[in-house]
Amino acid sequence: MSWWKEFADTVQVDAPIARMTWFRIGGCARFLASPRDAAELARFVVRAREEDVPYRVLGAGANVLVSDDGFDGAVIRLEAPAFRRVDRKGRVLQVGGGVDLMPLAKRSSQEGLSGLECMAGIPATVGGAVKMNAGGRLGEFGDVVRTVDILTPDGQRQLWKRERIGFGYRRSLVGDNIVLGATLELVEDDPVRTTKAFASCFDDKMQSQPIADRSAGCIFKNPPGQSAGALIDQAGLKGVSCGSARVSARHANFIVTGEDASASDVLRLIDLIRERVERRFGTVLELEVDVWRPQGVRNAA
Ligand code: EPU
Repeated sequence: MSWWKEFADTVQVDAPIARMTWFRIGGCARFLASPRDAAELARFVVRAREEDVPYRVLGAGANVLVSDDGFDGAVIRLEAPAFRRVDRKGRVLQVGGGVDLMPLAKRSSQEGLSGLECMAGIPATVGGAVKMNAGGRLGEFGDVVRTVDILTPDGQRQLWKRERIGFGYRRSLVGDNIVLGATLELVEDDPVRTTKAFASCFDDKMQSQPIADRSAGCIFKNPPGQSAGALIDQAGLKGVSCGSARVSARHANFIVTGEDASASDVLRLIDLIRERVERRFGTVLELEVDVWRPQGVRNAA
């Protein structure tokens, strides 16, 4: 019997995942798992490891580029209600790893809880936001995290305090562990002020970023003390395209794609940008987006 059959009612085989990503491109996942709760997820992860099947969690799909040949492993979605709970006790929120970040940020701002306003306009789930320390100029997700409920690759649950998570610029020490949920500590404030702050952050992004287009947000991390967008812009790359992938004219650190774009269009454009920026400024741009290839994941630095 195939190992995955014990999870047959929550696992699909050779499932298309392009529509679950913001780019809406790329091939199939060998397995697509949507476990009902943490116990089932733990069993699945342990079995996958025993079978040497790599796995990745797909959150909002906003920071992932799936290759045209798909991902030869298991893609896990934390979309069951068990992973999407939000419990509030005063200014402390207990949130599941599969909770959508933007509605969470909007609602807490409306309720006069401050700390997540700067997440306006960032598509992510709580798990992705912890792992990537999502954020921008006005703040990062890690700023409000008190603890994280972790599932280790060998199926153990652990509670990590924020110091252990090692939040840095768009990174953390989550690694191969799965974020089951997090405890967030916010600040009680005037709801009018927090609602306005959320709206103003969102407007700011609408003005400066191609939010309505298909993209994966910023494609590169900012090099220390520099702006990737400004470097790409100064290299004269706005509007440059490979196939149906184009450097946004609004913000040069965004690659926007047309209906018929392929992952290889985006990858060729990434290579072209890195090569031109390095040649012009001597700066090597590091990808912010995860590229999921058939044999595992490469965050091509
Ligand atoms: N700039 C240009 N040309 C461009 C884009 C930007 O000259 O095409 C200049 C801007 O004028 C500004 C500087 O570069 O002087 C920085 O640009 P911006 O203020 O837009 O911020 P950013 O550093 O490019 C970061 C995050 C964004 C986040 C914004 C706002 C990274 C890689 N990007 O962008 O996050 O939304 O701040 O807080 O850290 C993401 O991570 O996916 C993302 C979009």
